[in-house]
Amino acid sequence: MTEEKARFFKALGDRTRLTIVGCLLKHDHCACDFSEIAGKDQTTISRHLKILLEAGILRYEKDGRYVIYSLQDDMMKETLEKCGIKKVDSCCPGSLMDADTKKHVVKKNYGKIALGMVQGCGCCDDLSGEEIAGSIGYSNEDISSFSDANLGLGCGNPTALGDIHEGEVVLDLGSGAGFDSFLAARKVGKTGRVIGVDMTAEMLAKARENAEKYGFDNVEFRQGDIEDLPVESGSVDVVMSNCVINLVPDKSRVFREAHRVLKDNGRMYLSDIVLLKDLTPEERSDEKLICACVGGALMKEDYLSIIREAGFTIRIIDEDKDISKRQYSGYPLESLKLELRKG
Ligand SMILES: C[S@@+](CC[C@H](N)C(=O)[O-])C[C@H]1O[C@@H](n2cnc3c(N)ncnc32)[C@H](O)[C@@H]1O
Repeated sequence: MTEEKARFFKALGDRTRLTIVGCLLKHDHCACDFSEIAGKDQTTISRHLKILLEAGILRYEKDGRYVIYSLQDDMMKETLEKCGIKKVDSCCPGSLMDADTKKHVVKKNYGKIALGMVQGCGCCDDLSGEEIAGSIGYSNEDISSFSDANLGLGCGNPTALGDIHEGEVVLDLGSGAGFDSFLAARKVGKTGRVIGVDMTAEMLAKARENAEKYGFDNVEFRQGDIEDLPVESGSVDVVMSNCVINLVPDKSRVFREAHRVLKDNGRMYLSDIVLLKDLTPEERSDEKLICACVGGALMKEDYLSIIREAGFTIRIIDEDKDISKRQYSGYPLESLKLELRKG
């Protein structure tokens, strides 16, 4: 025990390592970030990271070609804060988190939600999934039919925004535990098909388990990034998405991909968070705000512009401004509900 403590304090007894830990108190980082932040070459950084790993302060995960470092766990975070170690606020160039780190942070957070380790996305911890779903447009019947798939993560009910017909192919972007996919699957019936795409392995596992539990054989969940859809061009009648695109770094790519996979005259129903007042750079790189669907959101007019640039015509169905008070502690934002048409 004494030896462990000695290793812990020795690991922290260095300016570069304190900088690394301070950055990680703010959010996870790719190994490649630390060189610029600490002003040291990569070999020196690797040596410092090894010491922090051996002291049990850090851990890392491989995410594609990136190695992402984080603090060991929440207890370690608390211990470091109690030791008086401060977050390094200016750790990201321009104070913005890079796209790959942002995706990793989102994946980690939604993985925890899928496993039941955390309740909700962090926007409104005091509300239950049922309460949230009831307030954003789901009927009691929807909620009770698929209660295990409703994790209270949406900001609207895309299947209620327009008609979805029997026999159609529906694609759900960021399908989570499958709530909207199952509602769509009931509408398209046995002759139709629903494909859910999500990048978080734990969410996919939960959605697949739910599909089996609820007896759906017309729903398929695919692992993938909605910036690069694992779906054939021109094969889908309806794309839908519920409170997901705000989490994605390159929103233009998402809309271009949705446009690509839709059949001619295909349509998209979506609800998403947009901002009515811009955030500070610090808010934009705040891990909690990003995962709570706020930090990555665009200003409303910018959001609508990139949709038009992707080739869609837009009909605004509804703008839920009240959601700001109900779920987002008064942040200047709204839930935008849209119908998009290709062609
Ligand atoms: C706020 S939850 C919404 C889940 C679901 N649409 C609902 O309403 O219950 C966001 C989901 O999007 C997924 N997601 C975020 N970014 C993604 C990306 N780039 N590609 C695929 N899935 C992503 C997350 O893993 C998570 O399951």
